[in-house]
Amino acid sequence: MSKVDRMTIEGKKILQNVIFNRDKSEGGFSMETVGPQGSGKTSLDLHIIDKTIEKFRDELLFFRDSTESPVQFNRIDKWHIYGQEGMKLKFRDYDTNKYFNQPVTYFTSFDDIYENAEPGIANVIYFIREHTWIDFLNYLRRHMHRGSGWKTVFLEEYEDIAPQYAKSTGWKKNQLYSKNAKNIRKGLVNTLANTQNKSDVSYFIRTKLMIRSYLRGAKVDDISPIQQKAVDKLKMGEALIDYGTNFGKITFDPYRPKQIFEVEKVIEIEIVDEEEQAAEKYKNKIKKLERKLRDFEEIMDRLDIA
Ligand SMILES: Nc1ncnc2c1ncn2[C@@H]1O[C@H](COP(=O)(O)OP(=O)(O)OP(=O)(O)O)[C@@H](O)[C@H]1O
Ligand SMILES: [Mg+2]
Repeated sequence: MSKVDRMTIEGKKILQNVIFNRDKSEGGFSMETVGPQGSGKTSLDLHIIDKTIEKFRDELLFFRDSTESPVQFNRIDKWHIYGQEGMKLKFRDYDTNKYFNQPVTYFTSFDDIYENAEPGIANVIYFIREHTWIDFLNYLRRHMHRGSGWKTVFLEEYEDIAPQYAKSTGWKKNQLYSKNAKNIRKGLVNTLANTQNKSDVSYFIRTKLMIRSYLRGAKVDDISPIQQKAVDKLKMGEALIDYGTNFGKITFDPYRPKQIFEVEKVIEIEIVDEEEQAAEKYKNKIKKLERKLRDFEEIMDRLDIA
C-alpha cells in the first residue's frame, strides 16, 4: 500500500474512532484546526459539523461566530440565533450595506439556551463577553437530558474567547477550562475550535485539546508526529490531523457562503468586571500607603537632621 493511501486510511480511522464516535464511557473529543487566512479552517470544521448533523440528528450543536467578519453559520442549512439579554444584535448585508431583520431569541440564563436549543440545527449564541463561552462549556458538561445527551460546540476563531494575554477574569476562565477540560469531554461535550494564529490562544487551553489538524501553510507543533514538510505539501481541501501518536490525512469540501452578512453586538448595559474593580481599589490603597510612607520618610529625615 502506498504511503498516500495509508495516510488517508489513518485519517478515516481518526474520524470514525474519535470524531464520529459516540461512546459515552469514552466521552467527547476536542479538536483544534490551525491554518493561515483562507486556508480552509472554517470549511473543514463545517464539513465535520455537516456530517455530525447528518449522522446524529438528536444532538445539540452550539456555534460561536466572530462579529469582526462575515458570519460563517449560514453555511449550515438551518440555524437559530440566541443573544444575551443586555445587548441587541444587528445584521448588516455586505452587498447592499443595509441592516435587515433576523429572528433572535434573547436569553438571561444558560438554562434558557439549553432548554430551547433545537437538535439538527446550528444554535448560534452571542454572549456579551466572549469568555462566557468557557462558563457555558462548563455548564454543558452537567446537562445531558436533551436528545442523546451529546453536545457539539463549534468555536470559530477561538482566540477571542481564550486569548493568550487574558487579564483578571479572562485569565481565570482560561484556567477554569484547563482544570475541567477532561470533565467537559466526559460530560459528552465535543469541541471544535479554530484559529489562524495558535500563539494568540491561551496556552492553558490549547494544550488540553486532544486532536490537532493542520492546513496548508500551518506551522506544526514540536510535539506533533506530523512532519512540517508533509503540511507544506498539502493542497486546498486537505488537512493533516493528529491524535496522540496517530496521524493521517482528511479531505473536505469547498466552503460556499450564501448571503454574506455581519453581526454587530450593541451592548446596552454597563459591564462591570468585579475583579478589575477590586484591582482598581487595591491600586488606590497602595497609592495612599506609598504617600504615607513618603511622609513618614520625610519626618524621619527631618528627625535625623535635628
Ligand atoms: N476543499 C476546498 N476546495 C477548494 N476551495 C476551497 C475548499 N475549502 C475552502 N475553499 C475556499 O477557500 C476559501 C477560504 O476558506 P475558509 O473560509 O474555510 O478558510 P479560513 O481558513 O476559515 O479563512 P479565514 O482565515 O478567513 O477565516 C473560500 O473561498 C473557500 O471557498
Ligand atoms: Mg474562517
